[in-house]
Amino acid sequence: MSQTMLESYIEKMVRQAVTSSLSNQLVTNEKIKPIVVANWKMNMNLDSISEFVYDFSKTNVPVDVVICPPAPYLYVLNGWQIKLNALFSIGAQNVHSESKGAFTGDVSAEQLVDVGCEYVIIGHSERRAIGETNSFIHQKVKHALNTGLIPILCVGESEEERKQQKTNVVVEEQILSALQNIQDISRVIIAYEPVWAIGTGQSAAPEQAQEVHHFIRSVLSKHFGVTAGRTPILYGGSAKPENAKEFSAMADINGLLVGGASLKAGDFSKIIQAFC
Ligand code: 13P
Repeated sequence: MSQTMLESYIEKMVRQAVTSSLSNQLVTNEKIKPIVVANWKMNMNLDSISEFVYDFSKTNVPVDVVICPPAPYLYVLNGWQIKLNALFSIGAQNVHSESKGAFTGDVSAEQLVDVGCEYVIIGHSERRAIGETNSFIHQKVKHALNTGLIPILCVGESEEERKQQKTNVVVEEQILSALQNIQDISRVIIAYEPVWAIGTGQSAAPEQAQEVHHFIRSVLSKHFGVTAGRTPILYGGSAKPENAKEFSAMADINGLLVGGASLKAGDFSKIIQAFC
């Protein structure tokens, strides 16, 4: 083995050791650990990521934090994660349902694990809007779980559906179709993201979100039994430093999935502190 190959082999082993030593454990002593997730969507570049990480490294992080950068930066962020002693975990924003093959532009769960990912967002409304069906989302969730990734399954109603009082029907359908035939949901995270609240600056009221989270928990309990009480249910949609504390006070809100307000380390840190 050449010197370069040996170095890259050792580097890979170190990466795997760091990621497998991270908890992947969503519950301690039957209490759900708060999780705050940054979904950077199609934002950031190498410079802004360095700036973010430099500022974020000063943050006190007593809850689980996951950062989901655009795919080209996953490996870069994995490097930072190692340097910062696993201050945060890494998630992808999407994954394919197959392990490999002729799927131009797609990324497999195995490839995500290879670059240090532990989590993956599945079924985001911005992907449903470009044609992802409940059945494809189900395949992705199943494949992610089989590969050892923790799926963050996004569900949520449109403005029209809320007006027609279809929120519960839509959310239940999205959850049941995504999780059908999955016996063990102990490694699944649900994110309730009402479509009308995403990127609008107009979040759901904390009580309004709590009502849906409570409903989601009842659906999970009915269909998946006792472990459902331990499923983290995150809220997403215009979450920001100004409203994070109110969301954290709700009984069934176990964390946030943050878009715009996760792009600056200062704002994201304030949101994290709300869950301490
Ligand atoms: P915003 O926080 O920008 O509304 O985005 C929410 C979201 O879609 C996170 O996945």
